[in-house]
Amino acid sequence: MDVIHIKGGKPLCGEVTISGAKNAALPILAATLLSEEPCTIKNVPDLSDIQFMGKILENLGASVERVDNNTWRITAQHINSVAPYDLVRKMRAAVCLMGPLVGRLRQATVSLPGGCVIGPRPIDLHIKGLEKLGCKTRIKNGYVHVDATDLQGAGIFLGGRHGSTVTGTANIIMAAVLAPGITSIESAACEPEIENLCRMLLSMGAQIEGIGSHTLKIQGVERLHGCTHEVISDRIETGTYIIAAAMTGGDVVLRQVELNAIGALIDKLEAAGLALEVSGDRSLHIPPQTKELKPVDIITMPYPGFPTDIQAQMCALMTLIPGISIITERIYPNRFMHIPELQRMGAHIAIEGSSFIIKGGTPLSGAPVMASDLRASAALILAGLAAKGETWVQHVYHLDRGYEKLDQKLQALGADIERLPAEEVSKTQIEAVSS
Ligand code: EPZ
Repeated sequence: MDVIHIKGGKPLCGEVTISGAKNAALPILAATLLSEEPCTIKNVPDLSDIQFMGKILENLGASVERVDNNTWRITAQHINSVAPYDLVRKMRAAVCLMGPLVGRLRQATVSLPGGCVIGPRPIDLHIKGLEKLGCKTRIKNGYVHVDATDLQGAGIFLGGRHGSTVTGTANIIMAAVLAPGITSIESAACEPEIENLCRMLLSMGAQIEGIGSHTLKIQGVERLHGCTHEVISDRIETGTYIIAAAMTGGDVVLRQVELNAIGALIDKLEAAGLALEVSGDRSLHIPPQTKELKPVDIITMPYPGFPTDIQAQMCALMTLIPGISIITERIYPNRFMHIPELQRMGAHIAIEGSSFIIKGGTPLSGAPVMASDLRASAALILAGLAAKGETWVQHVYHLDRGYEKLDQKLQALGADIERLPAEEVSKTQIEAVSS
């Protein structure tokens, strides 16, 4: 395991290119199972979750070729329908293999994903959607067994108590594109990642209307051909670097930004008084700020609302802004593992139910902190960049799941950050920062 060591206080300056979106690439790689022809997928981020998905696809019998670091060619000519526990447990998004296996093979056996630190990760809506499509499902020994012999298009309402489901929508779309008849999905997730998946499926010969909206209409087809498709850039990585620039008082240009995918974030950052310059060539400039930022209130919601995956990073920013900010987490009420670690760095945050009341304005101080999940880890890195003194972030493997070369990209922006194997760092070094 590695640790990341940061000496805070350096403004980030320069340019950074945003990578492909993890949460688009994962269902897109799963969708290659829908055709027996080769699919070439470009702008795939180089992440551990993606490597896991590649291993699972190979395990299912697909041939998986990494053309280069960010391009994969997958040919799923002869595949089986069992996604094993020892792989799925390491990457819960593998649940989105159910849909393509059902569509292509009329059967699927996928390990239940289990939970994670941000809370229970149920799949009741996935199951409901598949059963509406005529599937028989059985949960046994930690696996979901799906018999889709009678797969048939249907009308489905896919909303749950937290709104729409992203991977649930992906699963039902990928089952429906090869289901005889017409499927309508109401309360579908309309995240940019779902839109990107639908565009790939269209290029494979699928018939989908309403792309980008909460209501989709799918006319099933006999078969899908191969494709060449590009993954959209990562809106969560984009938000993470915007916030990093704002927290360090930097001057940063982001390249390959999906501007129309970050409206809610831009809205809140501009409400806080952050000056942002957008230019036509998909770049976004965060210039040095001339005014003090103001506190804002945020509630996380399904797209196009404020993304839950940027909640932790926004908390870190709000700890620096004088005044009271309130952030309410409506998607994953347990998504607060970053809070105690930020408090150890001097942040004043009270947790009231699923809301965080942040009394901002006191500078953060470096400390040894523990990463717990992907986005909480990013928030701790951002806090370390802004803090006075040194921060050691342990268990950084969480970061590798969702951020391509994060330490290298930050180093290139002038951050004093290094990644070291844990065995090379003595306990005294880590504890010295807190003395
Ligand atoms: C996707 O997870 C993303 N992961 C998550 O990103 C993201 O936080 C989440 O969508 C919300 O935007 C991928 O795309 C791989 P959901 P997903 O199904 O699809 C409840 C990251 O950091 N729900 O949209 O698993 C669920 O408990 C990760 O990159 C049900 O109740 O999320 C949650 O409260 C974290 N029943 C809400 O809906 C279901 O059957 C949204 O979940 C499914 C979900």
